[in-house]
Amino acid sequence: MDELIRLDRFLSGCGTGSRKSAAGLIRAGRVKVDGNIISDPGHKVSEHASVTLDGSELKYEKYSYYMLNKPAGCVSAVKDALSDTVISYLKGVNTNGLFPIGRLDKDTEGLLLITNDGELCHALTSPRRHVQKAYYTACDKPLAKDAVKRLASGLDIGDDTPCLPAILTKADPYGEDPAYLLTLTEGRFHQVKRMIYTLGSNVVYLKRLTVGGVKLDESLKPGEFRPLTHDEIAILKSGALSGEKDSRDENGEG
Ligand code: URA
Repeated sequence: MDELIRLDRFLSGCGTGSRKSAAGLIRAGRVKVDGNIISDPGHKVSEHASVTLDGSELKYEKYSYYMLNKPAGCVSAVKDALSDTVISYLKGVNTNGLFPIGRLDKDTEGLLLITNDGELCHALTSPRRHVQKAYYTACDKPLAKDAVKRLASGLDIGDDTPCLPAILTKADPYGEDPAYLLTLTEGRFHQVKRMIYTLGSNVVYLKRLTVGGVKLDESLKPGEFRPLTHDEIAILKSGALSGEKDSRDENGEG
């Protein structure tokens, strides 16, 4: 059976703004359901109802998906008493029910996905799904030559088990900077920083570039966001949700 939802929720799920602003549009008589003006924001409609705003048909999307170029200085949380959260950057969006997919440290920048799709979040952060994430990391000293091999064969960073194999390349093969691209398939707590530390150096700057085949849109400045495209959503879903579900799945870090 179709799920019934409040008309103000339907409108805000179509991207018209917050529930409050949707209620204003409804009360102003600008919204029709199946051809009839409805002025009660609490009126229940099917997800598949024909709803128009000022005569234009609206399409309800149950889930929302955004990419944020996370700036340093904010926390990957929905609420925080002391710091800005990643959600606070989604200006003009109805952020009810939205949460970040995984976590980046407060000082880490780059690609953070934000959604209200719990199933996709679970799949992308489950340690059993091995979703790839790539990071740009600048270090305070160059890594030794054997770093590539040690990472590829599973680095021991002091946890119960060694890390899964990771891929390290120089960010600029011809440059002098100790800067690297590191690709992981898990998300342990402070994983990149702990790996680099174990290899004898320290991270001085960290930025996430990709998650599950989706790349950070480099036209977004730190603090800017945009909705994911349909193609990006399909890439994430095909990578993360296509495998067998594992009842032992647990949430990882990020
Ligand atoms: N690894 C880290 O150390 N920090 C992050 O924010 C992400 C991965």
